[in-house]
Amino acid sequence: MLKVENLDVFYGDLQALRGISLEVEEGEIVTIIGSNGAGKSTTIKAISGMLRARKGSISWDNRSINQMTTSAIVEKGIIQIPEGRQLFPSMSVLENLELGALNPKAQKDKAENLKKVFGLFPRLEERKNQSAGTLSGGEQQMLAIGRGLMSRPRILMLDEPSLGLSPLLVRSIFRIIRQINREGTTILLVEQNIHYALNMAQRAYILENGEIVKHGPARELLQDDHIRQAYLGM
Ligand SMILES: Nc1ncnc2c1ncn2[C@@H]1O[C@H](COP(=O)(O)OP(=O)(O)OP(=O)(O)O)[C@@H](O)[C@H]1O
Ligand SMILES: [Mg+2]
Repeated sequence: MLKVENLDVFYGDLQALRGISLEVEEGEIVTIIGSNGAGKSTTIKAISGMLRARKGSISWDNRSINQMTTSAIVEKGIIQIPEGRQLFPSMSVLENLELGALNPKAQKDKAENLKKVFGLFPRLEERKNQSAGTLSGGEQQMLAIGRGLMSRPRILMLDEPSLGLSPLLVRSIFRIIRQINREGTTILLVEQNIHYALNMAQRAYILENGEIVKHGPARELLQDDHIRQAYLGM
């Protein structure tokens, strides 16, 4: 469904991605893991069109999306939940969710999608009139995911959804991601919580200094000596 080939991305003179290639099949959970500054967020931003690649290609359903605008990419169902959530703090929970449904297709199904989001996150329904800035960290993460779901993504790209959450909430966020996947949404997950990510995903890519150094079935990577030492502290 999603295919990235030989991608180079620069910030000015600094090369952040070097020849990245990865694929995500429909229905999969795929994770990209790597340490701080490895290029994980850059990869997701390039796919969503927020950053332009200098070289390489990105295709979706066998069509190139490299040159498309971010809004055209969103309309294809490629949705990113950015690192740090990026909510509108003075707007209510409901208003933030509605902002996730701006494109015409999502607008049409807004009531139905809202019901789904509230089904997944009852907490958000209880607090729909509360301003987003006063939600707890975990609730804000739920809202960020809920907002992404309002446009009925075909692929949801999550950038460190567990960041800053307590162990209990981390577990519940991962459970919800798994449920979203079971209901038919493909997941591309960036995580530093590597143990969880590798246990949940079918396949993983390891990113170091802007390069994919290893990829394969997540279960195999959990047993890999380098990964156990470098990322799992074993
Ligand atoms: N806007 C920017 N301008 C210049 N350099 C940037 C910019 N954004 C990111 N970089 C650099 O690109 C590299 C990759 O950054 P990126 O944000 O993709 O890392 P990451 O893997 O997501 O890290 P983290 O786990 O800390 O979020 C880093 O060296 C970073 O400093
Ligand atoms: Mg990042």
